Amino acid sequence: MKRLIYIATTILLFLNTLTNVIAQSPNRTSWFEEARFGMFIHWGLYSAAEGIWKGENLRYLNNYAEWIRYRNRISKDEYGELAKRFVWDKINPEEWVIQAKKAGMKYIIMTSKHHDGVAIWDTKIGNYSLSKLAGVNRDVIKELADACRKHNMKLGFYYSHWIDWEHPYAWDHNLELTKSVSQEQFNTYWQEKAIPQLRELLTSYGDIAVMWFDMWIPYEQTIFKKEQLQQAVNLIRELQPNCLINSRLGLPTDAEFVDFQTLGDNVFASEYIDHPWETPGTIAHSWGYSSYEKEWKSTSQIFESLISNVSLNGGLTLNIGPRADGQIPHESQTRLNDIGKWLSNYGEALYGAKGTPLRAKNFDWGYLTLKKDNNKSSIYAHIFNWPLDKKLRLTGIKSNPSSIYSMNGGELQKLNFVKKGLILHIDLPIDPTDNFVSLLKLEFNQNVDFDTDIVAESSFGGFALSSKNVFNKKDHEILPYNGKKPSHIISKGQDLTWHIDIPESGEYFIDVSAHNSTKTTIPIKIMIGDKSIEGLIKPNGLMVVEPNENNYTEEFVDTRIGSLKITKPTKIKVVFQSAADQALWLNRIWINKY
Ligand code: GLC
Repeated sequence: MKRLIYIATTILLFLNTLTNVIAQSPNRTSWFEEARFGMFIHWGLYSAAEGIWKGENLRYLNNYAEWIRYRNRISKDEYGELAKRFVWDKINPEEWVIQAKKAGMKYIIMTSKHHDGVAIWDTKIGNYSLSKLAGVNRDVIKELADACRKHNMKLGFYYSHWIDWEHPYAWDHNLELTKSVSQEQFNTYWQEKAIPQLRELLTSYGDIAVMWFDMWIPYEQTIFKKEQLQQAVNLIRELQPNCLINSRLGLPTDAEFVDFQTLGDNVFASEYIDHPWETPGTIAHSWGYSSYEKEWKSTSQIFESLISNVSLNGGLTLNIGPRADGQIPHESQTRLNDIGKWLSNYGEALYGAKGTPLRAKNFDWGYLTLKKDNNKSSIYAHIFNWPLDKKLRLTGIKSNPSSIYSMNGGELQKLNFVKKGLILHIDLPIDPTDNFVSLLKLEFNQNVDFDTDIVAESSFGGFALSSKNVFNKKDHEILPYNGKKPSHIISKGQDLTWHIDIPESGEYFIDVSAHNSTKTTIPIKIMIGDKSIEGLIKPNGLMVVEPNENNYTEEFVDTRIGSLKITKPTKIKVVFQSAADQALWLNRIWINKY
């Protein structure tokens, strides 16, 4: 009987944990999915090297200044000397928090220990910490945690759990050559340094919102054992049940182990991702401060990264690399302040917003984000390129908006619009309302329905049908653009299909951009609705891509196939067929009004 009760209790406990995991996960990540924009801080011993060692710049192609100890083969002792360069009376982590607030960021991820193995906090595990090396009584992590609490900012820690160049048994990429660390030895590092340090970080600084690990390949390809990573997960779940874990821990994104996916460095999504995710991004090239940094991104580029990610349901964790006196580079400050100013006016379009199910990069003027509030919905059109004809063409929304506004700073200006089938034509004010990204707000008194197959109308009108928006994509071999040939489809006599919604009656011409590498003309057929148009693609030659470099490619030219009279606006299926046995390289079909 006792045994039965024991088994029943165990099963109940197990079920309870299981439902907790499933029920808890949406709550645990909901703040992160609301936040969308956070600050990454790369600051450590390497910041004082500024990308230069003994008069020599960082070696090899990847100029990540925080890798200097490894790349320039610096000894542990000499590297430690960098601690003397820190200007402690100027270092004030509260300034980083204030800057993050000003930028409209909702969380901070601070490097607590990077690959160099130096603890930025006052660790009791060993003596390899910034304060001990510098001989000062400062715990920058504590100062940052206090400032975050004061300014109501969520705080997370980056912790390099895999690579640690200080510990003799941790991972170092040169082990690929020497293989001189065994799994048992690695486990010594894990049990004696990493796990106890994680415990310190999780118990000494209040609520920790995120533990951000950094291993960019799955654990099966590394020295790690799954149990070791599981141990870190258990520790975090036990000590900080609300703390999120990112996928660079080395385990797949699911609620049990990992709460959100971290894409590659500066890799922005190309399609909608259904679970929580972020891109870690830089304003410059390097994460840690580099004195010769030249690759500052423009503010518009950063807006594009942030907004396109939110339009695909993700977020951006944007890095600053302060100097060893704590100062944030001026270039970073100006960009962050511009973004913050914009977010103070238009934040509602990003915070808590999701993507729409429409095809990624559907519009040539910008991006859409979506917000639901009970039965009401809002769609925000983020306009990067203000159409010269003052008409915003927005394809794919089935539902009718109740009203559309231009969001001019804090003021809403009602706009006129017409809805023709699946296409909205919105009359824009004369000038863009913002120097970076102008915003429209479309209000709906219901949930919004979308048509995800329809091809978007281009700015100034017209429809470009290509491999990017072909409906029956999976039936075809579609080769990616290789920098020479335009994006194309090799047609093997099968059907290529698109759906378009013609907004106005009138006569429409059809141009086919294709390449025929044979010596004879190739007959093609386009069926538009119930009409069939036949045409011929003449043989094409080559064109010079770069003069004097023997760099040639196939020429793609437009052939006018014919025209089509539309008497009433309708949704139409377009089918393309090539009648020849030979492959025809189709670039795009262009349909527009005369
Ligand atoms: C890479 C680099 C590292 C940087 C990180 C940020 O993993 O090794 O230096 O901290 O990306 O995403």
